[in-house]
Amino acid sequence: MKKGVVFSGMRPTGRLHIGHLSVLDNWVKLQEEFQCYFGIVDWHALTTDFENTSEMQDNIRMMLLDWLSVGLDPLKSPIFVQSQVKEHSELHLLFSMMLPVSWLERVPSYKDQILQLGLQGKDIATYGFLGYPVLMSADILIYRANVVPVGEDQLAHIELSREIARRFNYLYKTDLFPEPQARLAKVALLPGVDGRKMSKSYNNDIPIAATSKEISEKVQMMVTDPARIKKTDPGNPEICIVHTYQNIYNASEVEEIRTNCKSGNIGCVACKKRLATVLDEMLAPLRERRSYYEERPNLLHDIIETGAKEARKEAGKTLELVRTAMNVSLKI
Ligand code: TRP
Repeated sequence: MKKGVVFSGMRPTGRLHIGHLSVLDNWVKLQEEFQCYFGIVDWHALTTDFENTSEMQDNIRMMLLDWLSVGLDPLKSPIFVQSQVKEHSELHLLFSMMLPVSWLERVPSYKDQILQLGLQGKDIATYGFLGYPVLMSADILIYRANVVPVGEDQLAHIELSREIARRFNYLYKTDLFPEPQARLAKVALLPGVDGRKMSKSYNNDIPIAATSKEISEKVQMMVTDPARIKKTDPGNPEICIVHTYQNIYNASEVEEIRTNCKSGNIGCVACKKRLATVLDEMLAPLRERRSYYEERPNLLHDIIETGAKEARKEAGKTLELVRTAMNVSLKI
């Protein structure tokens, strides 16, 4: 017996990197205890990137492969593309009828994002962007999900989905919607190889699909203690990106490496080599799973089709109850 329902989603905006692994590993685990649904939310991607959609289909495919490579199992959890389950859009529309605009305007990320993206010359003061958290609430509530594993940046959105559930239940005198709970994954703060925030747009990320060669190239780029010129100079691990990574990914060797770095007994080249090996061993099984799916385009197609079909079935049940509650289920 499952403990409840989980929904989570990601916008298909490009390759995922190893900083995303803690979130995804959490999803993989949740599959055992919960009935999970995982959506590649392409409509959400349109809210900020409606002007350039040329990479959308590639990004969707890449995200699907990334997800499968970490071990999301389509036999346990439907994996689907949001735009293929139109029920989400009807629920979004019906929610929009009963929601005060002020609730949406006061979501903290709303004005902030308009400002941030405005600085980059992007005008996203659109109707669709205002409704971003309404669409997100529809994604969650249409499966009557109890748990939503997300990052901290999404907490205000989950709070809104709870308010929507309460308002709906109150207005239409029903207990149709449970109030979803956010579940935060323990996220180790992982810097990019240059010390800035890890992001594919800075090209300082290590993609989860990286080859052995790419891994070692990225590790070469990592910034070490600048005062260390010769291998025999004592190093300062506290200011070294490689050490930050050894700490997270190489627990069994980190103490020894640390001592030898401080005493000048291991050089940066050797230290980087050991990190590259550990990262490569970590990503190897993911690469193997990825190539299994890459070689089977029909299987990929089936996974996403079947996922949408299963999602539609569940979503359709909720939607019919919503229509009935709001008296928009036709009786003549
Ligand atoms: N807004 C989420 C993000 O940017 C993506 C998302 C859309 C989502 N719908 C969702 C996450 C529903 C969880 C549940 O990360």
